Amino acid sequence: MAKAGFTSSTRDIPAVSGIPSHIAVIMDGNGRWARKRFLPRVAGHSRGVDALREVIRACMDRGVAYLTVFAFSSENWRRPVEEVSFLMQLFMKSLQKEVERLHQNGIRFRVVGDLSRFDPSLVTMIRDAETLTAGNTRFNLTVAANYGGRWEIIDAVNKMLERNPDKRSGFTEDDLAAGLSTHFAPEPDLFIRTGGEKRISNFLLWQLAYAELYFTDTLWPDFGAEALDKAIESYRTRERRFGRTSEQLTEQGGAGGATPAGRHA
Ligand code: IPE
Ligand code: IPE
Ligand code: MG
Repeated sequence: MAKAGFTSSTRDIPAVSGIPSHIAVIMDGNGRWARKRFLPRVAGHSRGVDALREVIRACMDRGVAYLTVFAFSSENWRRPVEEVSFLMQLFMKSLQKEVERLHQNGIRFRVVGDLSRFDPSLVTMIRDAETLTAGNTRFNLTVAANYGGRWEIIDAVNKMLERNPDKRSGFTEDDLAAGLSTHFAPEPDLFIRTGGEKRISNFLLWQLAYAELYFTDTLWPDFGAEALDKAIESYRTRERRFGRTSEQLTEQGGAGGATPAGRHA
């Protein structure tokens, strides 16, 4: 067992079921969605919030426990200043508008990423929302903002060294994983990227080690419950071997014995 009682996909064989427990999403394609309609790029971001609302609801209905979405990458600061500032405003407005509803629906809300570059009033809103929803257990929504996978790994290494000031070597995977920003969640089972690009763009580099990858051309503002079902359908056909052979899976149990079979029923 690894961090916070969750199974590490590299040290153990995680349990597998037909519904992913944790879905991680790169919500991409907002700008192109808007441009296709001769709208400013930022109109796509606004519509993206509506898509996220629908996907949260659909995940909850289907029994997914964790949804982690990429809202702003550490590299997105490279965008035109007007777009960055629109995104920050949108983040604030959406938080203001939605936090009560999230709470009423039993959703625990978290933001992961380096918040030090954000406006202090936004950081306060985020921390307040996290505190308000801290006791909720029905669903876990995590927004990655000013997040980068490399930043996170360096951050986790620094935390590990701080926690063990006298130790110089012999660190384990668990020592490092304890400092990752998603230490409260199992590793993602399913990774979805909308918008057609086939890359990870510095998202959850460590945690995606054995995630099933799903890429769709659908632009994020057009992604909803039906599109989510297609992704889950694809996930269900995957044989999650975690390094073992297919024969081992069908033989029963598989090498680790953690699951009856890697393929979903
Ligand atoms: C994703 O949509 C949202 C953010 C990165 C904030 P984009 O803004 O990247 O949309 P495209 O990829 O330009 O269409
Ligand atoms: C990734 O999308 C980040 C988010 C969706 C927040 P980008 O649109 O920024 O990714 P690249 O630049 O095309 O790789
Ligand atoms: Mg993009």
